[in-house]
Amino acid sequence: MPSETLTVTDNRTGKTYELPISDGTIRATDLRQIRISPDDFGLMSYDPAFMNTASCRSAITFIDGDQGILEYRGYPIEQLAEQSNFLEVAYLLIYGELPTKEQFETFRYHITHHTFVHENIKEFMRGFRHDAHPMGMLLGTVGALSTFYPDAKLINDARSREIQTHRLIAKVPTISAFCYRHSLGLPYVYPDNDLSYTGNFLSMMFKMTEAKYQPNPVLEKALDVFFILHADHEQNAGTNAVRAIGSTEVDPYSAVAGGIGALYGPLHGGANEAVLRMLREIGSVDRVPDFIKGVKNGERLLMGFGHRVYKNYDPRARAIKKAADSVFEVTGVNPLLKIGLELERIALEDDYFIKRKLYPNVDFFSGLIYEAMGLPAEIFTVLFAIPRTAGWLAQWLEMTADPEQKIARPRQVYTGQRRRDYIPVSQRG
Ligand code: CMC
Repeated sequence: MPSETLTVTDNRTGKTYELPISDGTIRATDLRQIRISPDDFGLMSYDPAFMNTASCRSAITFIDGDQGILEYRGYPIEQLAEQSNFLEVAYLLIYGELPTKEQFETFRYHITHHTFVHENIKEFMRGFRHDAHPMGMLLGTVGALSTFYPDAKLINDARSREIQTHRLIAKVPTISAFCYRHSLGLPYVYPDNDLSYTGNFLSMMFKMTEAKYQPNPVLEKALDVFFILHADHEQNAGTNAVRAIGSTEVDPYSAVAGGIGALYGPLHGGANEAVLRMLREIGSVDRVPDFIKGVKNGERLLMGFGHRVYKNYDPRARAIKKAADSVFEVTGVNPLLKIGLELERIALEDDYFIKRKLYPNVDFFSGLIYEAMGLPAEIFTVLFAIPRTAGWLAQWLEMTADPEQKIARPRQVYTGQRRRDYIPVSQRG
């Protein structure tokens, strides 16, 4: 009769233990009973970089990395990208179900009516250097929002949690656009509540002297699809940062600022910017084989390739590639696309990449499309942070409601010196 347990024999003591298995996991704390003496701390699991540790139970995003499946609340990403819109997806992530028409209208109303930021935010942002990276500015400014909304500290109050959620989803695009305008020395553009979520973002980015900015509907729709594709991705580095910081019961602005910091890194959301720089550096299709040789020699990474979870084509990359055609019809094809397609072609046929199951990830093509839309490389990761804010908040809300969660505090394996006596500087060799 099979049983849902794991039998472990400790060969140091000869003792046998039976550990329950649930949802394909054992509880790491169940290992603690395995000790060699009463004063032994007990067995721990050692898992640098969380290669095989589930840190939470979550009902938000499902990924099957081997099959290349991504679902939000059970809905396949391909269906959401084709049939839904970003605000509806944000609602789905946060509340768990697709909204009725009325629920959607109410949600949209709340998001639209929280897009303005306090005038002092503008003053605060003026302090950034003219060439400050937009992700650094976004990180600092979202963190600063916590000082504008002291009620955000009430994380055990459901209404407060909801209002901060609306504020963040509404204000991150405004701050993001301000970051872009700041880097160009252009005046900030206030939100236009008549426009869609992405239409308003494009207006705040690109509006000049016209009385009303009219977003190109194809680009507005493409950006909306990209936002859907980037909205959540279960326990990645940024989300793990938001959950870890949020577990201290700090306000969500501080937690989301931490997520932005994690996302900024070139191995995470910063990869889309790094891909574009890499393509520019390669410069022409005939230099691709040489570049691939360098990657295989371990001299550098092929940015936009590989993923901790996906060992198959990233479904988001496939959807982005599909959306690319509509964008390029409006903007003209980005000349770097040829280099990207050649890199992809060679990599998908090459043993080095096949053996390691390295496929294009979401960042491989997104930068090319953003650049064709007239967006500079420095803003690419910001375009990731805007929709991911909805995912971070869904994860933060789930965490605050989870009675099993406590302050996140990993253990360590100490490898340093043990007790030794202090030596005055005059006696040190
Ligand atoms: N180019 C060349 N080799 C690679 C790459 C790459 N992009 N990614 C992984 N490898 C190799 C790696 O060197 C290792 O080889 P070996 O077994 O010989 O030592 C093997 O593949 C396994 O890689 P890993 O580093 O153990 O894998 P990981 O799960 O720790 O890292 C990753 C995942 C995404 C950080 C990594 O694939 C990478 O650095 N990719 C490039 C950066 C990138 O595109 N990041 C965006 C990720 S998707 C968006 C997001 O979620 O933020």
